[in-house]
Amino acid sequence: MGFTVNALSPVLGAEVIGLDLSSSISDAELSRLNQAWLDHNGVLVVRDQSLTPEQHIAFSKRFGELEQHVVGQFLLKGYPEIYRVSTKVDDDGKPMGNPESGRYWHSDLSYLERPSKASLLYALELPESGGDTMLASMYAAYDALSDTMKGMIEGLTGVHDLYHVNKFFETSGPSAAQAELTPPVEHPVVRTHPETGRKALFINPGFTSRIVELSKSESDALLEFLFAHATKPEFVYRHRWRLHDLLFWDNRCTIHHAVHDFAGSGFRHMHRTTVLGEAAVL
Ligand code: SIN
Repeated sequence: MGFTVNALSPVLGAEVIGLDLSSSISDAELSRLNQAWLDHNGVLVVRDQSLTPEQHIAFSKRFGELEQHVVGQFLLKGYPEIYRVSTKVDDDGKPMGNPESGRYWHSDLSYLERPSKASLLYALELPESGGDTMLASMYAAYDALSDTMKGMIEGLTGVHDLYHVNKFFETSGPSAAQAELTPPVEHPVVRTHPETGRKALFINPGFTSRIVELSKSESDALLEFLFAHATKPEFVYRHRWRLHDLLFWDNRCTIHHAVHDFAGSGFRHMHRTTVLGEAAVL
C-alpha cells in the first residue's frame, strides 16, 4: 500500500503522503490509515487532495454516519453533510460559511448526547499567511495530571451546552432557536477512548459550562485550571495549512482552535464533515 506516514509532532499529528481519496480506497488501506490515526493520537493530514463534495462525503462515511450541523445557514447547498468554514461571501453578500468558526478551544459537537467521533476539514482556499489550526492532545493532558487530581476528577460530570459558545462569537454564533434544538447534555470529565482504551480529558472551553457535582465557584475554579492545563503548549500541535490538505482529527481525544490572525491576508475557505460518535463513558 503506497502511502507514507510522517510524524509531525511526537505528541499528536502525522502527515500522509501518496494517498488519493478521490476514489474509494481499499479496506486494507482504510485499516492502515485508521491505525496511523490512532497511533498518532487522533490527528492526520492527508496532503494534496482534489475532492468534490461527493468524494469528501464518501471518504468521511467510511468512518461512520455523518452529522448535519444545527447551525444550518452555513451548510453547503445540496450537501447538508458539509459545514462551511469560510471568510468569503456569495454574490448576495452573505457569508458562504461561518467566518468566526472555531476561534476558541473545543471538541466538535460535544454538546450532543453522542458527541462527534471525527471531523474532516478540507482546505479549498487559504490566506497567504496565518489561519493555522491548533490541536491539543487530551490524552497527554490527562496523563500529565497527578494521580490525586486524576482520582478527583474521574467521578465528575461536565455540562456541555451549545449556547455557552456564544461568548466567543461576535456575529455568527448559534441562535437561541438553534441552541433549543440541542439542549445541554452531561458527559464524564474523563472518558475512555473506545478504540485505544486510553483515558482522555473531555472538557473544553467552548461548550463545557459547569461541573455538575460542584458548587458554581468550585466548578469555575476547576474548569479554569483544567482549560489552562489542557491547552499547554507541550500538548499542542499547530497545523500550518497547505492548499488541499484534508485534516482529520479525533474529537474524543483532542480539542482544537482556529487561529483568526489572517485579516487582510486573503480568504480562508474550507469544507468540514463530522462523523457521529458514541456516548462518552469513563
Ligand atoms: C472547526 O472548529 O471545526 C474549524 C477549525 C478551523 O477552522 O481551523
